[in-house]
Order: sequence, then C-alpha cells, then structure tokens
Amino acid sequence: MVVMLPSELFKYKKNSQKIIALTAWDSISGSLAEQSKADIVLVGDSLAMVCMGYKSTLPITLDNMIYHTNAVSRGFSNPINDQPLLICDMPFLTYQCGEDKAVEYAGKIIQNTYAKGVKIEGAEPEIQNVISRLIRMGIPVMGHIGLTPQSYLNIGLKKQGQNSESRAKILRNACILEKLGCFAIVLEHIPESLAKEIQKQLEIPTIGIGAGNFCDGQVRVTADLLGLSDEQPPFCKPIIEGKSLLGEKLKKWVTTERLK
Ligand code: KIV
Repeated sequence: MVVMLPSELFKYKKNSQKIIALTAWDSISGSLAEQSKADIVLVGDSLAMVCMGYKSTLPITLDNMIYHTNAVSRGFSNPINDQPLLICDMPFLTYQCGEDKAVEYAGKIIQNTYAKGVKIEGAEPEIQNVISRLIRMGIPVMGHIGLTPQSYLNIGLKKQGQNSESRAKILRNACILEKLGCFAIVLEHIPESLAKEIQKQLEIPTIGIGAGNFCDGQVRVTADLLGLSDEQPPFCKPIIEGKSLLGEKLKKWVTTERLK
C-alpha cells in the first residue's frame, strides 16, 4: 500500500509544484474533490456551516468530524495511492483543554478515520505545546494562522495582519509552527505581501485562502467555490452560482411533474 504522507508535501514546494486543497463534508463532495485531482481534501470544520446549518464552526463536535471524515473517504474511488491526502480539522475545544486531551482526541481521528493528519488553528503558547506533543506522538499537524474562525468571538472574521504588530506576530508564529514540525500552514485572510514574506522564509508549504497568489498552494471551501454557501466570503468568487442554478432546475422539475 502506497499512500502519500503529509511530509511529502515538502517536495511540492521544493519542486515549485503548486498544492491545491479543497474541503469536503460528505461522500458526494469527497468524490467531486477527488475527481478534480485536488492534492489535499480537507474535512474542515466549516462543514458546521456548509452542511449542518450552524452560524459558526464552534458547535461542531469530535464525533461530527469523525462521522463526516468517514463519509468523505467513502466517496473516494481511486486506488489508494491515487487518492488525495485526507486531513481533518480538530474542532473547537478538542485541543484547547490541554495536551493529554488533545492527544486523545487527535488519536481518535487518526484511529477512526482514514485522515493522515489534523489541522489546528492558532499558535498561542498552549497551542504550541499541543502541536509539539501531537507531532512527537506520531500525529502530523497542519497549522492554521491569520484569520482563525474558531476565535471569531475575540477577533471577528476580519482580515488579520493589517498593522505592523499583527504582521510581526503572524510571521513569528509561522516560523514557530515550522520549528515545531507542522507539515504545512494554512494562511487565512491576510495581506498578500505578508503571505509572500512567510512563503519565502519557510521551508514547509504555505497554503493560502484569502492570502493572495504567492503561497505554495491554495485551499478553498468547495461549497463557496460552487456558489452553494449562504454567506460567500469576500475572498472566494464562486465558479458557478450553484444554489440558484440547482434550485431553479429542481423547481422546474417539480412544476413539470405536477402537470403530468
Ligand atoms: O474549515 C475549513 O474549511 C478551513 C479552511 C477554510 C481552510 O479551515
């Protein structure tokens, strides 16, 4: 069995090969993401809004994430060595309450799904300890800094890194996450110039969303790309107006069926 390991993403950066990541939340979106040839499929906690109808990512649980990650991998049909790298978000309160709990919960994700790594938001000192412990325990970690939606009650959903203090903190945290051993870092909603600086300083890949064009890769919430989300983020232009298109088609079908 040959599966791509998270650490192999390093080679993409070395070879200047762009990394593309898409989110998925069920077997249909998993299948679409695999068909698109995305390198990474992220079961992001954005699925709380995208498919569970919540207004933020905070209510989603570990069991929810495991359930959806398994649905996503059931949607993959390629031979194992041709499947995207599957990464699962650690939801709110599964890594903020200490290292032991974080190891237990991340371990549950790895034991009960086909995910090959977890993504964790932030780089506060407590989070750094958790990341370091998880990596030492054999669980690959993808970092996530800039706008971190699990902290929206403190920082809102606005662009981060807009002043020199915030820029310096994000740059410093990116370097710390690399030193801790993260295999890649998501940079969300920060100025392009800052993302460019981070990309240059780090050896591990940076994967941007709302962070301009100079990251080593891009990640998008697939529902935003397909125009299915209720609230479109300012940095993701849909490639189709999925919700209205599909809604109209269904309405037409229902109307026609009624008349038969
Ligand atoms: O939850 C999610 O979908 C994410 C992406 C925005 C990177 O974290």
